[in-house]
Amino acid sequence: MTPLEAFGAYETAALAAIGNAQGPSELEAVRIEFLGKKQGRLKDVQAFLGKASPEERPALGQRFNEVKDRVTSAFEARQSALAQPETLATAIDLTIPGTPVRIGREHPISQTIAEFKEIMGRFGFTVDDGPEIEDERHNFDALNIPFDHPARDPLENFYLATAQSSAGPVLLRSQTSTVQIRVMERTKPPIRIVSVGRVYRPDEVDATHHAMFHQMEGLMVGKGVTMASLKSVLRLFATSYLGGDVNVRFRPSFFPFTEPSVEVDVKWKNGWLELGGAGMIDPNVLDAVGYDPEEVTGFAFGLGIARFCMLRHGITDIRRFYENDIRFLSQF
Ligand code: PHE
Repeated sequence: MTPLEAFGAYETAALAAIGNAQGPSELEAVRIEFLGKKQGRLKDVQAFLGKASPEERPALGQRFNEVKDRVTSAFEARQSALAQPETLATAIDLTIPGTPVRIGREHPISQTIAEFKEIMGRFGFTVDDGPEIEDERHNFDALNIPFDHPARDPLENFYLATAQSSAGPVLLRSQTSTVQIRVMERTKPPIRIVSVGRVYRPDEVDATHHAMFHQMEGLMVGKGVTMASLKSVLRLFATSYLGGDVNVRFRPSFFPFTEPSVEVDVKWKNGWLELGGAGMIDPNVLDAVGYDPEEVTGFAFGLGIARFCMLRHGITDIRRFYENDIRFLSQF
């Protein structure tokens, strides 16, 4: 190898190593290897100078110095580049107060849902959500709602005119009870789940009704599940959310998928407020999902989410939730 080739090979290798060094300690190792004063690759190429003839020496010495200078300045440039974050951090005074930026917050309904799931989780209920577009089996048939039941009236539901599934016509679910069926179809008892989500009904919109609203469905199935279990769970739930020792009251009612069926009220301040429906799962429903009604029993409930949220915060009009008025939303 000629001296000039050796200088060139040294320069190429040194510049590559400097460029690849990822931190100060890696760079220091490169410095020792390529620029070390006592030994290393610089010394090796310098040895060519010693062996050169007196006539060659001045020109070779000049080349050597050029190479050495280029490698040295590449090293210094890399060194300050790698030190950049530290200099930047010290250049900025982090103790100077900044300007707070409002980045928004969670919607009150979303906050309520998160808290509901958390409370029910403490009682051993896991979350299992279902689809908002449903077929008639899950929204009606398996829930023991007969074909001529008024709840199936197309004018009482949002049927999707164009969409069809292999299971027939589809609609926006009118209740989260659909998830009872979906969960029981694919799971064996014991079951303890809640399902929270949107439901749709073409209701006239007023202070307490909306065409889209949120429900929490609860389902517990197993051996020896009773009405008393249902009332205990609902009372614990209402107490946890509203605070204090609230009272829960059952009034006889009717739902095709529960027997007996009740309306659930909660005592709040001086009156009773209706929170939703509940009951013991009708044996026909257990049959429809392949359970043996002689073996297992279960309860189900469906609660309106907005009701609770309005109760706790003193909100008097359900429409506020969906108007996206920042003055309303920023209060939660
Ligand atoms: N799905 C019923 C409704 O929307 C509520 C309900 C749920 C009743 C579960 C009984 C059991 O009104």
